[in-house]
Amino acid sequence: MMKVKLNNGYEMPIVGLGTWRSSPEDAYQAVLSALKAGYRHIDTAAIYGNEEMIGKAIKDSKIKREEIFITTKLWNTDQGYESTLKAFEESRRKLGVDYIDLYLIHWFKGYDNSLATYRAFEELYKQGKVKAIGVSNYNVHHIQHLLDNVEIKPMVNQVETHVTLQNHFLHDYCKQNNIQLEAYAPLMSKNIGQLLENETLIDIAKKYNKTVPQVAIRWLIERGIVVIPKSVTEKRIVSNFDVFDFALNEEDMSRIRKLNTGRKIFVEFDNVDY
Ligand SMILES: NC(=O)c1ccc[n+]([C@@H]2O[C@H](COP(=O)([O-])OP(=O)(O)OC[C@H]3O[C@@H](n4cnc5c(N)ncnc54)[C@H](OP(=O)(O)O)[C@@H]3O)[C@@H](O)[C@H]2O)c1
Repeated sequence: MMKVKLNNGYEMPIVGLGTWRSSPEDAYQAVLSALKAGYRHIDTAAIYGNEEMIGKAIKDSKIKREEIFITTKLWNTDQGYESTLKAFEESRRKLGVDYIDLYLIHWFKGYDNSLATYRAFEELYKQGKVKAIGVSNYNVHHIQHLLDNVEIKPMVNQVETHVTLQNHFLHDYCKQNNIQLEAYAPLMSKNIGQLLENETLIDIAKKYNKTVPQVAIRWLIERGIVVIPKSVTEKRIVSNFDVFDFALNEEDMSRIRKLNTGRKIFVEFDNVDY
């Protein structure tokens, strides 16, 4: 299992299972399949509505709690100091765990909210209720505002990242500040068809005797980016994790780099109206 070390020394498996849009029942099965396949990292969020069943799957797997890395996220309407502490307890109760490995602010919702929410995150971190804290959908200016005002550096920034939205600038900034970048929608989410049909990726996949999704996931691993492909289909869950027996060479890495268009599938971080 490949892991990255966060800026506080805590270790995070480089591949995890995404669970957005997985119904509670599907998420339950998906988590069991993933844990069986060797995953030890699950990504959820309060808004996904599946924390309870994910917690149940983790329990039913009989794998020791401390071997599994669980991320959840604070929803936008719960931002603010007191409301964050309350929402955290709710997520923790639903997941049925004593602590959460990584707690993220789900979206940037203004500088005041960001600070107030993050102060509650720092409190939860100091109390040992979360092992790491971070943000999601934060750009350079949002992160810089935190760095200028808070005591504990965020450890992770989870953002949309895939072959056509490569985020080199944001990644460099995060590396300079020792913040781990984490890629959501690594298979281009609802636009996965575009990924599967990409000629360059098909060509590279053939060369390594791998699939296009495996190449897309491996390319993020080569960049040192944590990646959380989502699937509720057992054979895809297994296949998305079978990415540790090959490495992309420099030539193929630079061929993929040329696929960058910078175009987002998800909303621009400063324009979130939910
Ligand atoms: N922080 C945020 O704001 C945010 C936003 C979006 C996502 N996320 C997180 O990131 C995770 C991943 O992003 P995502 O779910 O949007 O998209 P994704 O992982 O890029 O793609 C998921 C889609 O690809 C399909 N798929 C998965 N593996 C496949 C394979 N090997 N071959 C063919 N199709 C495959 C899935 O279908 P099936 O499930 O039907 O197999 C699903 O339709 C989410 O689940 C969530 O945990 C976070």
